[in-house]
Amino acid sequence: MIRWSLIELDRVRSTQEVGRGLAAEGAPEGTTVVAKSQISGTGRLGRRWLSPEGGLYLSFVLRPGQIAHPELATIVSTTAVAEGIEKSTTLAPTIRWPNDVMLGGKKLAGVIAEAQASGGVVSSIVVGIGVDCNRHSADLQSLGGEATTVEEELGRPVAIPEVMRSILGSFSVLYARWAAGEDVREEWTRRVATLGKQVLVKLKTEENPFSCTATALEDDGSLSVSRAGRARVVRAEDLEWLREQS
Ligand code: BTN
Repeated sequence: MIRWSLIELDRVRSTQEVGRGLAAEGAPEGTTVVAKSQISGTGRLGRRWLSPEGGLYLSFVLRPGQIAHPELATIVSTTAVAEGIEKSTTLAPTIRWPNDVMLGGKKLAGVIAEAQASGGVVSSIVVGIGVDCNRHSADLQSLGGEATTVEEELGRPVAIPEVMRSILGSFSVLYARWAAGEDVREEWTRRVATLGKQVLVKLKTEENPFSCTATALEDDGSLSVSRAGRARVVRAEDLEWLREQS
């Protein structure tokens, strides 16, 4: 089990920046930075993550050692966020590959996992999690795409520390199983909404989006798709965006 050690801050540029700095200084696994608000919260592909008070913003350090497929950090974290929100709120979020936690087709939370490696070995991973808790989605429109919040879905505000504890608890259990060599993709598969669906995929490397069917999650967290009867693998780092069509 991870030994969580919490650093609680009021306002930071980005907990992810603080987490990266701590990891570089040798902070142990479980070191967690949580802030009430962020001035410069960042999501995947450097996108802005609006972070006013009322949200959960945290980053933690992992020391994955010889863990199989460290690239699965995003998949494991996204699963833990969905499960943690469900256990602390009774809402039942789904997952949109690779890193979105969704409710009713709207984004509720996002995950970013950044690995630091030296000599081909991953020395640390900093996982950043943002959950829109006690806000109104109208304030979050600049996130791009449709957003929702826990308060809006539940009809009442939530205790943010409780949501955090629940997410960290779920992560701890999944991480222990992953470190023990178990295939943790099963939990993800139960919650994912992307598999078996017709999806529109826009890659950074290609000008036009293409339509395909999402068929499977690969060992390294990539998504297998079938496009006009031909199989293809989409890597998260190549993805600009993905939308479900059916
Ligand atoms: C995404 O959906 O693109 C990922 C969003 C991740 C946002 C969180 S909020 C806490 C941590 N600090 C950051 O600057 N980003 C992550």
